[in-house]
Amino acid sequence: MVIWVTGAKGQLGQCLQQIAKTQKTKFVWTSSSELPLTDEERIVQFIEQQQIKVCINTSAYTAVDAAENDVYQSFLLNCCVPNLLARICKQHGVRLIHCSTDFVFDGYANTPLQETHTTTPGSIYGQSKRRGEELLLQTYPEAIVVRTSWLYSLVGKNFLTTMRRLGRERSEIGVVYDQIGTPTCAPDLAQVLLIMAQRADMNGGIYHYSNEGAVSWYDFAVAIMKLESLQCTVKPILTKDYPTPAKRPAYSVLDKSKIKAALGIVIPHWQDSLEKCIRETIDSE
Ligand SMILES: NC(=O)c1ccc[n+]([C@@H]2O[C@H](COP(=O)([O-])OP(=O)(O)OC[C@H]3O[C@@H](n4cnc5c(N)ncnc54)[C@H](OP(=O)(O)O)[C@@H]3O)[C@@H](O)[C@H]2O)c1
Repeated sequence: MVIWVTGAKGQLGQCLQQIAKTQKTKFVWTSSSELPLTDEERIVQFIEQQQIKVCINTSAYTAVDAAENDVYQSFLLNCCVPNLLARICKQHGVRLIHCSTDFVFDGYANTPLQETHTTTPGSIYGQSKRRGEELLLQTYPEAIVVRTSWLYSLVGKNFLTTMRRLGRERSEIGVVYDQIGTPTCAPDLAQVLLIMAQRADMNGGIYHYSNEGAVSWYDFAVAIMKLESLQCTVKPILTKDYPTPAKRPAYSVLDKSKIKAALGIVIPHWQDSLEKCIRETIDSE
């Protein structure tokens, strides 16, 4: 079985590459320069030549604030590309696993969100990802969409790497405490995506995956500073005092019952995964 992973240079793509090193399965990795996912002819040629059986699509337009002024690119990459992949994968009998986001929700819920919960994205990024989910599943109902939230790792630019940098540079920072969600350690998600890739019996549709628990960005930042022993004071601030071009959901905790039942997995609590992620770096430094 050959597994193709798109977005190889992205955060999740790099975490998948780390984990794949320990597996016997054959993987092929592509970045946008090697294989632009807007080029149908090249994708078809690639799938046929490489004899791809599973595609994990981690590629996306992920610049949430920039998307507000870049509607075309956002919809091209988050909506048209997933739909194109769905059509090609279906025609070639390739199982497709696609990543999506908690930003498809408006944030007005106050209990964990199931896959069937109404979606009303408040940003262009969220709208483009939601439309991408819809088109992909219309085109290829057997495809799998994994919605995740607050992805972090030691790779690239994400909340953990930003807090580590700011914690060293500043004595005080303000972080919002009125947005509640769940961090997802990218290597944890990568493990689950690889389990899904091996499970041909999985039903198509949407699945939620994040770590367990619920927390504000403020509490998440405090936990990072503490685990990193950084002497930076984190002050709780309101979203209205930290305006951003794109609106974020105030509450986006995902209910993971469906994926846990389908795969028989136990999901680590966000604090345990964060501690593990940070300890591993400290040990390797
Ligand atoms: N980051 C988060 O907090 C978060 C939260 C929820 C859901 N998600 C979802 O999780 C997935 C992975 O996110 P991530 O953090 O790993 O994103 P990322 O680091 O921004 O990586 C996305 C990758 O997409 C690739 N890409 C963009 N346009 C492309 C094109 N035309 N053709 C081929 N590749 C293209 C880029 O590849 P190149 O570098 O080669 O250009 C980039 O490396 C995405 O679907 C995202 O929407 C992320």
